[in-house]
Amino acid sequence: MSALAQLPPVELQSMTETWLDAVARTEKRAYTHPWSRGNFADSLRAGYHAQVLTQDETLLGYLVLMLSPGEAHLLNITVDPDQQGRGLALHMIGELVRWSQAQGAQSLWLEVRVSNVRARQIYERYGFKAVGLRRNYYPLAPFKREDAVVMSLPLMP
Ligand SMILES: CC(C)(COP(=O)(O)OP(=O)(O)OC[C@H]1O[C@@H](n2cnc3c(N)ncnc32)[C@H](O)[C@@H]1OP(=O)(O)O)[C@@H](O)C(=O)NCCC(=O)NCCS
Repeated sequence: MSALAQLPPVELQSMTETWLDAVARTEKRAYTHPWSRGNFADSLRAGYHAQVLTQDETLLGYLVLMLSPGEAHLLNITVDPDQQGRGLALHMIGELVRWSQAQGAQSLWLEVRVSNVRARQIYERYGFKAVGLRRNYYPLAPFKREDAVVMSLPLMP
């Protein structure tokens, strides 16, 4: 039996305004350069596919996905630092792949920091391939930026 199967079920639900404070708090703990609360609010206003992963109404993680004709773009996927290593990111990726396919997307795209080896390994394990590099895409330190690896996953119909 997997570790997840022994716990109360996790649930993916829409990220509504009421989740934004908790999401912004987790985001600050998870990243050196976090999105602001306003970035998430803008994503909701823009109609992006935004979901929270919860267990007993406690926030475990979240994702933000932008859908455009034929493709989906993962803008943010985060697991609370205290909840990492339980397979929750893999669970969310599986769900968003199914959702994107159901919307007619033929490919899923994302950018990830060159230095984010753990996330890159998870995406590779899932079948994403590195297809390009965006130079100086992310802020790193004052006057310093970091490249992004562009990764993509073909979605079978
Ligand atoms: C990157 C990130 C999203 C990964 O989340 P996560 O939930 O820790 O990832 P997962 O647990 O799903 O990763 C799979 C790992 O869990 C293991 N796993 C998979 N299913 C499992 C299960 N049922 N029970 C226990 N472990 C499991 C996998 O073997 C893998 O092991 P590893 O630790 O050797 O890599 C998370 O570290 C994070 O939020 N980081 C900060 C934000 C970030 O970098 N986001 C990505 C930006 S592009």
